Amino acid sequence: MELAEILPIGSALGEAARRLLSGDVVAIPTETVYGLAADATNGEAVARIFETKGRPRFNPLITHVATIAMAERIALFDPLSRKLADAFWPGPLTLVLPLRKEAGIHPLVTAGLETIALRMPVGFMPDLIAEIGRPLAAPSANSSGRISGTTAEAVERDLGSRIGLIVDGGPTPVGLESTIVKVGVEVGGVGVRLLRPGGTPAEAIEAVACVRLERGAKSGVEAPGMLLSHYAPKAAVRLDAGDVRAGETLLAFGPERVEGAEKARACLNLSPTGDLREAAANLFTYMHRLDAAGAATMAVEPIPRSGLGEAINDRLKRAAAPRDTPSRDMPLSRS
Ligand code: TXA
Ligand code: MG
Repeated sequence: MELAEILPIGSALGEAARRLLSGDVVAIPTETVYGLAADATNGEAVARIFETKGRPRFNPLITHVATIAMAERIALFDPLSRKLADAFWPGPLTLVLPLRKEAGIHPLVTAGLETIALRMPVGFMPDLIAEIGRPLAAPSANSSGRISGTTAEAVERDLGSRIGLIVDGGPTPVGLESTIVKVGVEVGGVGVRLLRPGGTPAEAIEAVACVRLERGAKSGVEAPGMLLSHYAPKAAVRLDAGDVRAGETLLAFGPERVEGAEKARACLNLSPTGDLREAAANLFTYMHRLDAAGAATMAVEPIPRSGLGEAINDRLKRAAAPRDTPSRDMPLSRS
């Protein structure tokens, strides 16, 4: 198997930009850990992140920006979030903010959520983002279940046979992931919730925000790695459907249709050729669009469980779970 090319940051900008603009993934150093980056506006590129990591689930990814102006075009900042960005960016702090729908961020990045996790990293990555003029989605550059890569060599050992380019910026200075917080209006005023501890100490955030960070789960919602707020369609979801029943919509996959497909109130095909990467990129948008048809039930054709199919089926299973049951906030594996 051919191994990834490793280029030092001093000579990597052009090649990394070219690959990212063509929809490829590239391993890039940040001050926290190496990120496995893709153009956040390109669904198939983002699907490649999950494919490369072998992540069995689509959890929302952090989007990286080059400037506060770019962040303001992607998300809505309340005054306190803006104050935190001014104080800590560039740096290891990620803010969860309401997403601007017109920003062009692909829904696979946010796993269909109406919020987005944003940060401005230190070093090479903002230069690269400025060069391509697009935000980068990037989880840590490691395969699912492995520890985060903090050197180019570690990334090469883990992912070198699966990616084309690793940008070498030496060992990452912080060595652990960014701190994630979300500012929210709670009963009795504005609060800041700590969603993931990381490279920016909680005390430093408290000193700027002038409030104590709220920790722990708010009835299970948004605890680190929890999925309660993921997009759930209004329609019931019938998985591995062998037919289409009266009044149902159909989420199809591949070249062949199940029985009764012509009766579907609306039908969208995740990938007419049966390409799982294309299907992953279309998944959230198509669930939304079929839901808009107002049917009580969405039938879903069988989708293979190999490769990205595992994450697609996981997401559909969550969408199919009865509402208000524990299965809605199944913990996410850390990756
Ligand atoms: O240091 C870092 O943050 C690294 C480097 C590469 O920048 N990135 C990183 O990204 O750790 P990622 O995508 O692995 O982080 C995902 C975390 C998950 O715990 C996820 O639940 C949370 O961010 N997250 C993302 N979007 C969210 C949202 N809309 N609401 C709540 N949590 C969110
Ligand atoms: Mg990780």
